[in-house]
Amino acid sequence: MPAVVVVGAQWGDEGKGKATDQLGSRVDYVVKFNGGNNAGHTVVVGDEKYALHLLPSGILTPGVVPVIGNGVVVDVDVLFQELDDLTERGVDVSKLRVSANAHVIPSYNRTLDKVTERFLGKRQIGTTGRGIGPTYADKMSRVGLRIQDLFDESILRQKVEAALELKNQILVKVYNRRAAAVDEVVAELLTHAERLRPMVADTALELNEALDAGKTVLFEAGQAAMLDVDHGTYPFVTSSSATAGGACTGSGIGPTRIDRVVGVIKAYATRVGEGPFPTELFDESGDFLRTTGGEFGTTTGRPRRTGWYDAVVARYASRVNGLTDLVLTKLDVLTGLERIPVCVAYDVDGVRLDEMPTDQSAYHHATPVYEEFEGWSEDITGVREFEDLPAAAQSYVLELEKISGARISSIGVGPDREATIIRHDLLG
Ligand code: IMP
Repeated sequence: MPAVVVVGAQWGDEGKGKATDQLGSRVDYVVKFNGGNNAGHTVVVGDEKYALHLLPSGILTPGVVPVIGNGVVVDVDVLFQELDDLTERGVDVSKLRVSANAHVIPSYNRTLDKVTERFLGKRQIGTTGRGIGPTYADKMSRVGLRIQDLFDESILRQKVEAALELKNQILVKVYNRRAAAVDEVVAELLTHAERLRPMVADTALELNEALDAGKTVLFEAGQAAMLDVDHGTYPFVTSSSATAGGACTGSGIGPTRIDRVVGVIKAYATRVGEGPFPTELFDESGDFLRTTGGEFGTTTGRPRRTGWYDAVVARYASRVNGLTDLVLTKLDVLTGLERIPVCVAYDVDGVRLDEMPTDQSAYHHATPVYEEFEGWSEDITGVREFEDLPAAAQSYVLELEKISGARISSIGVGPDREATIIRHDLLG
């Protein structure tokens, strides 16, 4: 039985939630291993639409054990809010396990995230303002607060004091804000301890034991390859490892345990926040993709930037993740287009590049080299077999497969759970 990692192969919002939700009842554990409530999964089950930010989408499937791994940064208020909302809607959330080593997002880091962005002005990253960056920075600077610290008041106080010694200087002297009070921060965090305690576990041990016992474990990445702190378009990235390697460091399982790595990729491209995006469209085609694809942020409501499919990005994501499969989503959004351009390479100052340039300036100058494919006008949302797609849609998928670095195993043709064409079993 496999350990499967699901990652985003573009700039996020590819539909990873739906992909993992689909494997649903065949999976025993779903693990979130990076990021925090900067993520946004929309999962549609029947008439119900769920927008999850922090919890792994596996929480919606009865029988699945959802896990928040050590690589995640947790805003405990948001965690409880999401659990309450789901409980109210009849979802059983009692199986959730949270790593004792996951870091906590304290309120002062939410403040710092927002004021830093304002301070950066036109150099801003366009973060979600949830305190993600400052909390990962604290982790690496060794002044972070972990979930387990909430169960020992004296240790928690020492750690908050240590963190605030420098941060308050920055808040007051650089940003002209009020200093955070140690007592208030400690008191606020302690209020969460009792409710959190039963969920907290040695999740690394549990996951390794589950794999030993032949259970199926799905590792669900937040964000995506192009937002990965190492492999993305730095510095316009998130602050965690959103590629497959992050599944190991962020959950405590070794690389030799992973059987499959599935990249989720949209049939076109989107990005939120700042940073390079070579196939970005500023014309009515871009508006068409945004409107038809409902491309507005789940977390922030921001309109997403839209563009054509970029096969250079797909090949890069395939490489840095070691993808075994691609899940192509939202093919139905392209219905009605006469011709569909696909970026097959970049032109950088007159030179053709077939692979991602390592030089960031080159990437900022890269313009797409397009190949155009024939579109289709038939409604494809009811199609469930690849052969029943219009010939032009089949051909579009097969052409993408040739140039994207991994086989396309599943195709999304609509928002519903069932609106999917399966070509290869992701757990087989
Ligand atoms: P942060 O993760 O809030 O620090 O934001 C850093 C960058 O990652 C910004 O450009 C965000 O818009 C982007 N980002 C973070 N989470 C997501 C996501 O789930 N989908 C798409 N973009 C995201």
